[in-house]
Amino acid sequence: MILLVKTIIVYDSWFGNTQAVAEAIGKGINEIEKTAVVIKKIKDVDPIEVLAYDVLLIGSPNHMGGPTRSVRKFIDKLGLLELDEKKVAVFDTYVRKNVHVGKTVRKMEKIIKEKISGLKLIVGGLSILVKGVRGPVMSGELSKCTTFGNKIVN
Ligand SMILES: Cc1cc2nc3c(=O)[nH]c(=O)nc-3n(C[C@H](O)[C@H](O)[C@H](O)COP(=O)(O)O)c2cc1C
Repeated sequence: MILLVKTIIVYDSWFGNTQAVAEAIGKGINEIEKTAVVIKKIKDVDPIEVLAYDVLLIGSPNHMGGPTRSVRKFIDKLGLLELDEKKVAVFDTYVRKNVHVGKTVRKMEKIIKEKISGLKLIVGGLSILVKGVRGPVMSGELSKCTTFGNKIVN
């Protein structure tokens, strides 16, 4: 019997950079056999859809040192569901090199732990540097995303 690991990647993105990161992570996941990945913009996802997946990835741009309002709302709504046995990991994009690296992923991880019982964080969050508020993603950063995707399903 083939066991398929089903992953949903949910992201917010104002200028397309976090979307590019989501797609690169999806590519990394797809390199591994026995996986299926769906990538969706947060505004198009009803939190209840998450119930159909084994792994949930949430991505947000760093806005004032934390996730966007849409991401916070989404996590709040997930807190109302029975999500036991599901695995989660987060990613962010940021511009303030050395100052805000990892800041938003740490915040998302903290909110998830506080609000959603039963969800298991599988790996530490990925934080990706972009060049200026509109981007693009800094060169060399996208390869970290594919490696992260590989790690998720392994
Ligand atoms: C309202 C706003 C606030 C931001 N605040 C920060 C910040 O505090 N620290 C930081 O490193 N980047 C900050 N940024 C830059 C974003 O992180 C950057 O625009 C984002 O990573 C681009 O991703 P996107 O193309 O997916 O929207 C901010 C951007 C916006 C629009």
